[in-house]
Amino acid sequence: MSVTPIVAPFPQSRLRRLRRSPALREMVTETLLSAENLIWPVFVTEMQGEDTEIPSMPGVQRYTVDSVKAAAERAARLGIPAICVFPHSDQALKTESCERAWDPDNIGNRAIRAIKDAVPEMVVMTDIALDPYNANGHDGIVRDGVIVNDETVACLVRMALVQAEAGADILGPSDMMDGRIGALRTALEENEFQDVAIMSYAAKFASGFYGPFRDAVGASGRLVGDKKTYQVNPANREEALRCVARDLSEGADMVMVKPGMPYLDICREVRDTFAAPTFAYQVSGEYAMIEGAIRQGWLSRDVIAESLLAFRRAGCDGILTYFAPQIAESLA
Ligand code: PBG
Repeated sequence: MSVTPIVAPFPQSRLRRLRRSPALREMVTETLLSAENLIWPVFVTEMQGEDTEIPSMPGVQRYTVDSVKAAAERAARLGIPAICVFPHSDQALKTESCERAWDPDNIGNRAIRAIKDAVPEMVVMTDIALDPYNANGHDGIVRDGVIVNDETVACLVRMALVQAEAGADILGPSDMMDGRIGALRTALEENEFQDVAIMSYAAKFASGFYGPFRDAVGASGRLVGDKKTYQVNPANREEALRCVARDLSEGADMVMVKPGMPYLDICREVRDTFAAPTFAYQVSGEYAMIEGAIRQGWLSRDVIAESLLAFRRAGCDGILTYFAPQIAESLA
C-alpha cells in the first residue's frame, strides 16, 4: 500500500486508546479468520482396519475409506468448505512406473468418491504427484537417477483425468515438473472437465518441513536422495515469483505457497503482484512443531489461531492446515 499513515506525535497520538477494551479492539481489527478460510488435508489409508495414528503428527490420523466419510461430515458441520485427500497406499504395490497413480480404484480415487457420496457439497481437492505410488518416493518417474520431466507430466495428466472422473473439484499438482499446468488444463478442456479447477503448488520449496508428511504417506524410508532438482531453493524469492507467473499463465485458477509460516514474505508478494486467489499450506512440520510444543506444555493452544491469522494478514485467501477441524471448533 502506498498510503503514508499520518501519526501525530505523542501525546496527541496514543495508540493504546484503541486497545483499551475488547469492543474497541474488535472495531479496528483488520484481519479475520473463519472456517471458510480452511482446507483440511486428510490421509486415507488402503490398509484394512482401524484409523491409525501418525507418531510424528500427534492428533492426526490416517482414515480408512469408510471412516473418512464421518470426517467429511464433521468438516461440513464445522463449516469447513474443502478437504484435500492424501493417499497412504500399500507399500507392497508401489512400483517404479507408478501405474497405480492412474488406477480409478486406487485409494485416493476411492476416497474422493466416498467423500462426495457422504457430503456432495464438500469441495474435494486432490494431490497430483507420483510419490504415494512410487517405489522410490519421488514425485516423478526416475530414470538413471534423474527425475524425468516430460514423461512424468504425461503420467500426471493420466492421474488428473482419473481424479476428475472420480469427482474431484480442485486438482492440486504438487510435483513441480515444468509444463504440467498447461498440460493438465489442455487435457481437462479436451475431456469435458472444463469446470475442474487447478490450485497449483506454484511456489513449493525444497523444505525439511515435509518430514512428518512423508511418514504419514509412508514415503520416508523410500526417498532416494532429495527433491532439490524440482522443488525451489528456499533462498530464492524471484524464482518463486516466476513459478507463480508461469503457472497462472498456463491456466492455474489458484496458486499456493508451501510451506507456510517460514515463507510469509512470499505469500504477501504473490498476493500483491498477481492479485490471484492465493493459498498457503501450513505443512506437516509446522503442525508437528506447534502441536508438539503445546503437548509439552511449552506453548498454549492460542498459538494455533495466531499462526493461521498470520496467513490471512499476509494476504492469503485460505490455508491448508491439519488444525482445520480443531480451529473451526474453537471458532464456532
Ligand atoms: C508430495 C507432497 C508433499 C506434501 C504435499 N504433497 C511432500 C513432498 O513434496 O515431499 C507435503 C505436505 C506436508 O508436509 O504437510 N507431492
